[in-house]
Amino acid sequence: MSQPKTVYRKDYQAPAYWIDSVELLFDLHQDHTEVTSTLTFRKNTDVSDTTLTLFGVDLELKSIELDQSPLPAAQYSIESEKLKLQELPASGQLKIVTHIKPHENTSLEGLYVSNDMYCTQCEAEGFRKITYYPDRPDVMAAFRVKIIADQDQYPVLLSNGNRMAEGQLDNGRHWVEWEDPFKKPSYLFALVAGDLVCVEDTFTTMSGREVALQIFVEAHDKDKVDFAMASLKASMTWDEQTYGREYDLDIYMIVAVSHFNMGAMENKGLNIFNTSCVLAHPKTTTDAGFERVEAVIAHEYFHNWSGNRVTCRDWFQLSLKEGFTVFRDQSFSADLRSAAIKRVEDVNYFRTHQYAEDAGPMAHPVRPDSYIEINNFYTLTVYEKGAEVVRMLRNLLGETGFRQGSDLYFERFDGQAVTCDDFVQAMFEANPNAMDDAEQVAFKRWYSQAGTPEVSVETQYDQSTQSLSITLSQDITENPNVSLNEPVLIPVRLGLLDTSGKVMTFDFPAKSLQAVAEVVLPFTQQQQTFELTGVQEVPVVSWLRGFSAPIKLQVNRSKADWAFLMAHDTDSFARWEAANQLYVTELMEHVERIHVECINAESNAQPSALAFSGDLMKAYEKVLLQDFDDLAEKAQMLALPSETYLAGLKTPVLIDEIVLVRNQLMKTLAETFESQWLALYNACQSSEAYQPSTEQIAQRSLKNTALKFLSLTGSKEALSLCLDQFNKADNMTDQRAALTCLVHSEWAEKDEVIESFYQQWQHEALVVDQWLMVQATNPEGDALQAVKQLLAHPAFDMKSPNKVRSLIGAFAGSNLKHFHRPDGAGYEFLADRILELNKLNPSIAARLVTPLTRWKRQTEDRQALMKQQLERIAATEGLSPDVFEIVSKSLKA
Ligand code: TRP
Ligand code: ZN
Repeated sequence: MSQPKTVYRKDYQAPAYWIDSVELLFDLHQDHTEVTSTLTFRKNTDVSDTTLTLFGVDLELKSIELDQSPLPAAQYSIESEKLKLQELPASGQLKIVTHIKPHENTSLEGLYVSNDMYCTQCEAEGFRKITYYPDRPDVMAAFRVKIIADQDQYPVLLSNGNRMAEGQLDNGRHWVEWEDPFKKPSYLFALVAGDLVCVEDTFTTMSGREVALQIFVEAHDKDKVDFAMASLKASMTWDEQTYGREYDLDIYMIVAVSHFNMGAMENKGLNIFNTSCVLAHPKTTTDAGFERVEAVIAHEYFHNWSGNRVTCRDWFQLSLKEGFTVFRDQSFSADLRSAAIKRVEDVNYFRTHQYAEDAGPMAHPVRPDSYIEINNFYTLTVYEKGAEVVRMLRNLLGETGFRQGSDLYFERFDGQAVTCDDFVQAMFEANPNAMDDAEQVAFKRWYSQAGTPEVSVETQYDQSTQSLSITLSQDITENPNVSLNEPVLIPVRLGLLDTSGKVMTFDFPAKSLQAVAEVVLPFTQQQQTFELTGVQEVPVVSWLRGFSAPIKLQVNRSKADWAFLMAHDTDSFARWEAANQLYVTELMEHVERIHVECINAESNAQPSALAFSGDLMKAYEKVLLQDFDDLAEKAQMLALPSETYLAGLKTPVLIDEIVLVRNQLMKTLAETFESQWLALYNACQSSEAYQPSTEQIAQRSLKNTALKFLSLTGSKEALSLCLDQFNKADNMTDQRAALTCLVHSEWAEKDEVIESFYQQWQHEALVVDQWLMVQATNPEGDALQAVKQLLAHPAFDMKSPNKVRSLIGAFAGSNLKHFHRPDGAGYEFLADRILELNKLNPSIAARLVTPLTRWKRQTEDRQALMKQQLERIAATEGLSPDVFEIVSKSLKA
């Protein structure tokens, strides 16, 4: 195979032809589907190129006609996934007939079959697996679609827009015709054919139009869609109230499918969802699952404006829709539930996963400059960092200014395919006085520059002038793969506390601010000094409140000072951050220390017992005994940083030490505060019927935190509490929490609960996913062996991305200890699975490579073993561009 080609942003060229309308006829048969496509094309007179390029992958071409006569062979050629047409008139009609094989399509892109249901996934470049087409987002057309299929097997036939006509044919076949009045790029096309039930509701928009809301699922899931429906209505209301945007069609459909590469897809008027992001029932879905459904329903709904009405010019602009839409769904969840809790969750996730990406071989800017396979760029950087960038803009412009900017953006670009630059420019134009030129330039670099800025701080307090001088420096030093290093605009939100923990007010002359309790420093240079005045005494600075920028801030503080901020900071995020930093400082001190001890000791001598500091134990106990208005905040404050988060802090990653020290601290906290945990566990019991309400979720999360710590004592009492909760729980949150405690313990009879849980839930695919995940992430026993055995279990299916993620993804991504076994067996196992999936589903295979890409951060022995597996993959014949890109970039540099 020739080496796959790299696509560059700088090479963008407008299309030579526009497509004004498309008519598609799908004739679905057992062994193939015939697709007849009629394209009405028109020359783009701005472009001199006269070739009409249509993309097509895995298609069997049956015929091409131009204006109703067969197209002479001299006028077209087919080469490497492109059909090139020459000497076409300035406008005309092409009719192309192709055959495809949806039943053999395991990539889950294009038209495929999942549980005997036909469905499509066209983003980013899946439409070319359906028919020859200028499959690029800047070509927008009106679609009319007719589907013909067997009526008994496929009673439900859906596509985008409005249902126009339907009818019966001979031989038990029927047809339905759909028309989407909004022009759209091909990636938003969708088709579904299956035997599905529909749950229906309506929504009246702010202008008084009634919209039919329909959720289609398999019959046995009909009792699991109420929550998604309620979430959809809440999303529609929220977008009207917050952005002034209402829905535009008369019908909004959602279809749940079990085989799906990602969470969900925003196809115009016909969203297709992974079952995991739409089905929710207390008995089968955890609280986290409910929150995920709510957020993903919102995310896809919000795309109708940020993505569909205004779409991307090319795939380098992906964050235009994704970063903005993630920001919108985060804001929605914050408004609906608790803003403080949501922010901590989002930041914790972001720092754990996006920082790792930004520090590795796949680091790329929010708006990438090049790619080999676009599927590899649906990343934490494009989504989550993109959302952080939009959030900074919202904070810089203020609520009102941001709304004016988004109004201008939607109004100006409605119906168009545009760029990230267009978005930012509209925001700036609507707020001409908010940022000066230098600030605008520095802000835009967030889109063009990869890497996480590292910011160091220095402060000097002058008693005589009561001024605090703050010097900030920024740099992107960590990653050799990141070449640009120009300063970005970093809004640093901060406040000051006095030594008794009270809020201090102060002045910020540069912005003519007086007697304020908080400021945002507009930090735009490599190094910059800011003066605060009217500062009455030496302050304790509370930095980067609300995580006001996606940076790494280096603040050296004593544990006592972190504990002080943890108790007194008025910003809820900063309080949590102080707790987090206190735990990190303590844990990493011990990690370093026992590492040195192990090196000094000749053999595998056991490190000395760990004694944790009084600062930490006291601060922790204080939280444990304190009353919180929001129990979820308490649970967050009591949670230690994850192993994965700790692994991201320093190189080389001292995995064994991290696992050991963190486990020791957990155990110490469990034993020291055993009676407090028990009291807390009992205090959090409730007799209310399950609701996925914010209050109940908070209470359960605190209760299950307590249960986890109790289980770590290993006591008989704790074991029976776990068993009791496991057996009596009326909801999956509690049952799964207890299951995890039991399975992840040293209890000898755990196999019985594993088995009984499976017996209870084997017919609920999404619960089986959780069952696989609990076992894959087990720190006890031989997890690799268990995972290998589960591959052969009837519950496992290599063609199901949910199953692959739950078993293989969770093992490699979250079970640090066992994935990084010193013998390299974890790496070898993962490489084998990647090679297997490379043929079945390249985009899922490529995602699984992620843990191996981080090889350079590991200790030398592990580096060698990981690299060996990457090299083995690289040397394999027939690598997909997806896997090739990630593996080759990992081995380079
Ligand atoms: N656009 C989708 C979203 O963010 C995600 C998406 C992109 C996707 N490509 C996909 C989903 C492929 C499933 C399969 O909402
Ligand atoms: Zn999205």
